[in-house]
Amino acid sequence: MGLRVNGNEVGAVGADVTLLELIRETLGLKGTKAACERGECGSCTVLVDGRPVAACIQLACLTQGEVTTVEALAESDRDLREAFAEFGGFQCGFCTSGQIVHAASLVRELQSQPEPADLEAFVRHRMSGNLCRCTGYVGIVDAIIATYRRRTEAANAGAAA
Ligand code: FES
Ligand code: FES
Repeated sequence: MGLRVNGNEVGAVGADVTLLELIRETLGLKGTKAACERGECGSCTVLVDGRPVAACIQLACLTQGEVTTVEALAESDRDLREAFAEFGGFQCGFCTSGQIVHAASLVRELQSQPEPADLEAFVRHRMSGNLCRCTGYVGIVDAIIATYRRRTEAANAGAAA
């Protein structure tokens, strides 16, 4: 199994190239942000086979599978992006790509399992690796919960039709 980014196969990469460098510099996908570059802030979050990964501390040559960046979520998770805007889930926007990517995987996970007893605490805990210096997190958490609830309602309505 090789490495693919947003459905496109990636050829050989140098041994010292991080996944973040590959995405931003080689592939020119600037939606994934570089901030701390130490695995501490979550701004560089991408999905590897659907699971959130800090691209800045992941070597590209050791990454196998399908990498999804925020650009690939533009249509599939439009509702989530719109919810971030609706609930004030961003201000300066620097952390937002990473928040959206992580949130996209979290909403899918929530849809695939019984709802946690304390949904807000669950979301806060799971998103705790994505730092935001602007929002105070309330809008981010509200946007994720609203997207989950709306998708669940839509799925239930579809099943009942
Ligand atoms: S830039 Fe990767 S975790 Fe901060
Ligand atoms: S919106 Fe500014 S850091 Fe999160």
